[in-house]
Amino acid sequence: MMAAERLDKILSSQGIGSRKEVGQMIRRGMVLVDGKLQKRPEIRVDPQQSEIRVEGRVLHVQKYLYLMMNKPAGVLSAARDHHTPTVIDLLPENLRRKGLFPAGRLDKDTTGLLIITDDGDMAHRMLAPKNHIFKLYEAKLDIPVDETDVQAFAQGIPLKDFTCLPARLEPIPGTNLARVEVREGKFHQVKRMFAARGKLVLELRRVRMGALFLDPSLKPGEARELTEEELKLIFS
Ligand code: URA
Repeated sequence: MMAAERLDKILSSQGIGSRKEVGQMIRRGMVLVDGKLQKRPEIRVDPQQSEIRVEGRVLHVQKYLYLMMNKPAGVLSAARDHHTPTVIDLLPENLRRKGLFPAGRLDKDTTGLLIITDDGDMAHRMLAPKNHIFKLYEAKLDIPVDETDVQAFAQGIPLKDFTCLPARLEPIPGTNLARVEVREGKFHQVKRMFAARGKLVLELRRVRMGALFLDPSLKPGEARELTEEELKLIFS
């Protein structure tokens, strides 16, 4: 948000409350602009030029919101859906604002690290194939993977419509689990790569994007804001 905007719009864009709620807060005298009581929700303010205080606290206006979610199984990576709950529906009131969408998709049954933002440019950079952001997944398979699978992943798995870029596969000895690192994000890619090796993915969880790990303290369905450093980690 660069130029002057309505005061109620600024406050609701920052997750303070709905337009109606922040309008009431303003009219009740809970908001100061440059130290002066401001009771008109429609007044235009440039948050870059003016100090806004809500209940005494300075508001640090952020242009965009960047969230990390631990996506649970059973919800769609989409902004809105008429039939099925989406990741956006799971966000608590204080993290909601207009225009949020998941940057990239996980299948409905896939869990783990998902970035949600309202910054279209950032999402575009994150998803652009040429940027080759590595994504690490943990997969549970119907049968263990072996050294021939590791070699095949490293060479690039041929699928019906394209050949995958080389990927790193790491079996977890004595289990049906494996870690796989890919730098593409085609539809059902990881499941299709394993299927090409005769293996069925029973569970799939994304744990890292670039150098950013899923926060282990986030329970399934929980989300929190990313710090500036964490945001940079995605691209490093
Ligand atoms: N690969 C898949 O097959 N599914 C996902 O959700 C992510 C990567």
